[in-house]
Amino acid sequence: MRIDILTVLPGLLHGPFAESIVKRGIEKGLVEVNIHDIRDYTTNKHKKVDDTPFGGAAGMVLAMQPLHDAIVKLKSERNYNEVIFLTPDGERLAQGRVNQLSLCGNILMICGHYKGIDQRLRDNLITLEISIGDYVLSGGELAAAVLTDALVRLIPGVIGDEMSALSDSFQDGLLAPPVYTRPAEYNGWKVPEVLLSGNHKKIRVWEEEQALKRTKERRPDLLD
Ligand code: 6GU
Repeated sequence: MRIDILTVLPGLLHGPFAESIVKRGIEKGLVEVNIHDIRDYTTNKHKKVDDTPFGGAAGMVLAMQPLHDAIVKLKSERNYNEVIFLTPDGERLAQGRVNQLSLCGNILMICGHYKGIDQRLRDNLITLEISIGDYVLSGGELAAAVLTDALVRLIPGVIGDEMSALSDSFQDGLLAPPVYTRPAEYNGWKVPEVLLSGNHKKIRVWEEEQALKRTKERRPDLLD
């Protein structure tokens, strides 16, 4: 998979991709993440990347020219499965969408800033609009990092234990069951007996019960 990200704040994105799972996916050659600074595309002599909105509303909008030129150039170089705009008024991200996007070869992400981007770019060049939850971030960068992380960990070979991405919360529509590690008793706190039984069938049944119980208690909406 190749992911291209357009941003006015590239510095916000380098950190999240230089650690852990995404770093490993990049090092293994299973994903390529390219961060592009929208400012590099401006023809404005003052390198301006924002502009005032028509209609006199407060705030600024990402300027048309540099963003449009950047998208057109990248699209001329390869076919993107999706051109995604990260925006709080987009589709709220959930695991099903992540699973579907993880099958893509090329994804272009656009990080919004200020009051957003010109609606004509959204109408004509964006194929999917994603929000990562019902709250407001200062820009789309952290959302792009979240989406990238969620995608990369699903690419076969990125996570060592192939099973582990599939047993995550949400992957089977349920929250994950609790986990325990050694020692079996710590500070007087005991690990549930069944986990020490060695009876794998009983353990699987217990885990399923726990996952269902946890989902009922914490996220009954997932069971609807
Ligand atoms: Cl994708 N962008 C911004 N600016 N805020 C958000 C978001 C995205 N998703 C949730 N809040």
